[in-house]
Amino acid sequence: MFLHGTSKIDASGELVIGGCSTVSLVEQFGTPLIVYDEELIVERIHAYHKAFEKAQMTYHLAYASKAFSSLAMCQLAMEQGLWLDVVSAGELHTALKASFDPKHVYMHGNNKTPDELRYAVQAGIAFFVVDNFHELELLSTILEEEETHADILLRVSPGVDAHTHEYITTGQQDSKFGFDLASGQVNQAVARVLELHRLRLIGLHSHIGSQIFEATGFAVAASRMADLWQHLQREYSIDLHVLNLGGGIGIRYTSEDMMPPIENTVYGVLKETEKAFLERGMTVPLLMMEPGRSLVGEAGTTLYRVGSRKDIPGVRSYLSIDGGMTDNPRLALYGARYEACIANKMLEPATDLVSVAGKACESGDMLIWDVHLAKSQPGDILAVSCTGAYNYSMASNYNRMARPAVVFVKNGQSSLVIQRETLDDLVRLDVVGSNRHVVHSFS
Ligand SMILES: Cc1ncc(COP(=O)(O)O)c(C=O)c1O
Repeated sequence: MFLHGTSKIDASGELVIGGCSTVSLVEQFGTPLIVYDEELIVERIHAYHKAFEKAQMTYHLAYASKAFSSLAMCQLAMEQGLWLDVVSAGELHTALKASFDPKHVYMHGNNKTPDELRYAVQAGIAFFVVDNFHELELLSTILEEEETHADILLRVSPGVDAHTHEYITTGQQDSKFGFDLASGQVNQAVARVLELHRLRLIGLHSHIGSQIFEATGFAVAASRMADLWQHLQREYSIDLHVLNLGGGIGIRYTSEDMMPPIENTVYGVLKETEKAFLERGMTVPLLMMEPGRSLVGEAGTTLYRVGSRKDIPGVRSYLSIDGGMTDNPRLALYGARYEACIANKMLEPATDLVSVAGKACESGDMLIWDVHLAKSQPGDILAVSCTGAYNYSMASNYNRMARPAVVFVKNGQSSLVIQRETLDDLVRLDVVGSNRHVVHSFS
């Protein structure tokens, strides 16, 4: 397994992350356990800052909290001077509970509900990334009721296919997100915004996909956005000043994923964007990026206990662990690939070819197909790397399984940031007996 961030192997053959032995972490916190290498998250944030500074941009760097939303993560993002992208009342609530300054929070989403919009308006967030015509009207009505105004960006679907996995590509024309550029929806939206006096259009947004390793797709999007920017300024004399280029920079899930350092890719994106604006005789606007995966993905490792094994002669060996699609649905959702190791046997040769299966009642509940591991016994610890993004945030209680605990590790110290769900947590919201009110809803 490729070792990320501060991960190391100690003399006794144990995997160590952030100076903490994974064996000790499991003894202390149980399994499954998601371990975040705090130093690696901070290093990634710095890589983005460095690229923006090297390109001499006026910018705000945001964290797409959908990748992993929790109080501790919001606090870390805040300490590092990041802005926060939220897409639901829940993510906004988490940010506010973490005392994140609402003036550095903004809201995304293709179907923000009236309650979500009202909550965000009342919280005083920085701006809304408006996704569609329905939202323009809804937001405007809520602002009327609340007797206030809001800044907005329009989410533009620029027709760029970043050519990653079909299910995680959002920039192409056939997408549920944003105003379509090619068919003129953006112009119609701008015309409507100008009639809605509670809304102030301050900029544009585009997000072209996920797991992108090169600046090329961003360059095409930036050039289309610059064209649009110029057109809107000329046509409507609007003073736009924020261009948000979304997230989407990829990470190294397996040794086969080859990628340049993030700083170089981001620098490339920024220079291409600068070029697109300067070539058209415009000043470069305040730039924003909102990465999720590339800040937290590689920093996360999930630790499981090995349990049962099924060897089918001449076919395959299934090694089951005490978690699966309930804490990591990414293979089941879109065929994501991972690497793993036996964390307490790091010095033993990886000669055992197995497929790692989860414990849920779904044949599709697999974590890794065909991986070489050290020969394991029940009770050994399996570590799956790169599980920091879209794992805990996509976790479920399928089969009434409790969601794992999460710890941050750094300089030999671990801190529990999300407790393991208990069995009682699983029935906490159920209503039975005299508490169960029968409501007759037929007429
Ligand atoms: C609008 C938007 N911004 C940012 C992100 C974060 O993307 P990533 O985690 O790939 O950086 C996403 C991911 O889906 C997104 O849809």
